[in-house]
Amino acid sequence: MTDAPLLDVKGLNVTFPTRDGGIFHAVRDLGFTLGRERLGIVGESGSGKSMTGRAILRLVRPPGKVIADHINLEGQNLLDLSERDMRKVRGQRISMVMQDPKFSLNPVMTVGNQIVEAYRLHASVSKKQAKQKALEMLEAVAIRDPERVFRAYPHEMSGGMGQRIMIAMMLVPDPEILIADEPTSALDVSVQGDVLRIMDKLVKERGMGLIFISHDLNLVSAFCDRILIMYAGRVVETCEAGKLHEATHPYTRGLLNSLPRLDEPRERLDVLQRDPSWSA
Ligand SMILES: Nc1ncnc2c1ncn2[C@@H]1O[C@H](COP(=O)(O)OP(=O)(O)OP(=O)(O)O)[C@@H](O)[C@H]1O
Ligand SMILES: [Mg+2]
Repeated sequence: MTDAPLLDVKGLNVTFPTRDGGIFHAVRDLGFTLGRERLGIVGESGSGKSMTGRAILRLVRPPGKVIADHINLEGQNLLDLSERDMRKVRGQRISMVMQDPKFSLNPVMTVGNQIVEAYRLHASVSKKQAKQKALEMLEAVAIRDPERVFRAYPHEMSGGMGQRIMIAMMLVPDPEILIADEPTSALDVSVQGDVLRIMDKLVKERGMGLIFISHDLNLVSAFCDRILIMYAGRVVETCEAGKLHEATHPYTRGLLNSLPRLDEPRERLDVLQRDPSWSA
């Protein structure tokens, strides 16, 4: 990669006050850069993956706190922006597909109108143009009957369709970065493949940067270029996806050894080892 990173995160911490007056670190001293590539973030439940995504967009709700040396988007520190300017970043430059799309869609508004509204918020286009774009985006996420889906309400959609609609909505403004939080976990394998191909195309054709959050190490290593492995709020290891088998950290080794492998059937899978010193 020759060009400067799209995103450069340094010293990111997300904390929550605990009931006994202490501080809980959901994310601790996290740093990484993102180019026009597919970066995977993996780790077990509660390791801080979603909080990392939300923190980048300054979407951590109080009493949660985000502190960082910087979160630079093409050299501009997002922590220095006003809330108004930050809204523009969220709508146009960095999009995030949230882990549970059901909570992100408005139940009383048709799918099509939601996409049109999201688009018109940031682009001065006519309703007709916005509808055209919305239909194109629905088609791009492999929705077979976009006209029908355009007129439907969110509750009429399956979980998998809801997730693809969210992706369509997030892609309408042509973001430079897409943060996709478990975007395929509610999908069956064939649709999962469709969605991965769509995201792949966007990275290749539009030069988008993708942060792909998942607990599925197999999927991430097959799909991404680089992987951050998180444990208890920290990045314990960063590696090229193709070199995952060379990973050295005991937690990563444990994750690898606890995966079932088709080519090497085993009687029993290893139990994942944990060590408090890895997060110290
Ligand atoms: N509002 C909150 N108050 C206190 N702690 C929180 C809050 N939200 C999240 N946390 C804690 O922050 C930690 C990181 O949460 P996060 O949602 O980032 O995990 P995750 O890696 O995305 O997990 P999963 O794979 O289950 O989605 C967890 O231990 C969680 O319990
Ligand atoms: Mg999560």
